[in-house]
Amino acid sequence: PKRVRTRHFQNAKQQGIKITGLTSYDTLTARIFDEAGIDFLLVGDSAGNTVFGYDTTLPVTVDELIPLTRAVARSTKRAFVIGDLPFGSYETGPEEALHTAIRFMKETGAHAVKLEGGERSAEQIRRIVQAGIPVMGHVGFTPQSEHGLGGHLIQGRGDGLEQLIADAEAVQAAGAFAVVLEMVPAEAAQAVTERLAIPTISVGAGPHADGQLLVWTDWAGLTIGRVPKFVKQYADLAGILGDAAKAWQADVASGEYPGPEHSY
Ligand code: KIV
Ligand code: NA
Repeated sequence: PKRVRTRHFQNAKQQGIKITGLTSYDTLTARIFDEAGIDFLLVGDSAGNTVFGYDTTLPVTVDELIPLTRAVARSTKRAFVIGDLPFGSYETGPEEALHTAIRFMKETGAHAVKLEGGERSAEQIRRIVQAGIPVMGHVGFTPQSEHGLGGHLIQGRGDGLEQLIADAEAVQAAGAFAVVLEMVPAEAAQAVTERLAIPTISVGAGPHADGQLLVWTDWAGLTIGRVPKFVKQYADLAGILGDAAKAWQADVASGEYPGPEHSY
């Protein structure tokens, strides 16, 4: 299969073909999602929650994400792989941002990076893009600034729409090839999508965006506890794995496993 590139994102928007993305943090899911034809895989700093067991994404480091991103990039043939710049790896300025982006590109084989923030991150995006590295923006609710935003809140409502549009336009003007809209009302995402030439990718931003992205563990029913309203669950992996563990436990206890066919 031919590798997805940034022009695929542009063509998809122009032709009205929806773009699909899932997060991935390991070789097993990367292979499965790649073969299923998912257009891009994001090695999100959501790994803080899904892999490392933190309560937020804030503690996640570049050194933690690099090996996961390398595993995903090595395990795909078609999907476009995006490394997520974690909190504390790009905010101080364009040079820090470029340094981090270069680490991801050199050390992982990813095809692009993503970072959070609209107007506040425009100089960082511009500098990375100038170095030949594609950047996906991320506006609306940005989990790394959860405390500054005052919680896990829907963005772009009421007066917030003006700021959302300004942020999305700043990301586009800085040279990003696409932008994630996270947790914004569907009509706000529609307004942004109509204004921008680059594709918008919805994470809880309704049906009008040019593409959709979900955290795979939420989508597959593997997340423990509450998942956001915008997630549609496509499998019950927690149930399947829990049942498998119980069945195996019982078989070992009863002597049913291992049978002669599993023994040398
Ligand atoms: O880290 C992540 O998974 C993300 C997406 C949900 C946008 O940033
Ligand atoms: Na993220």
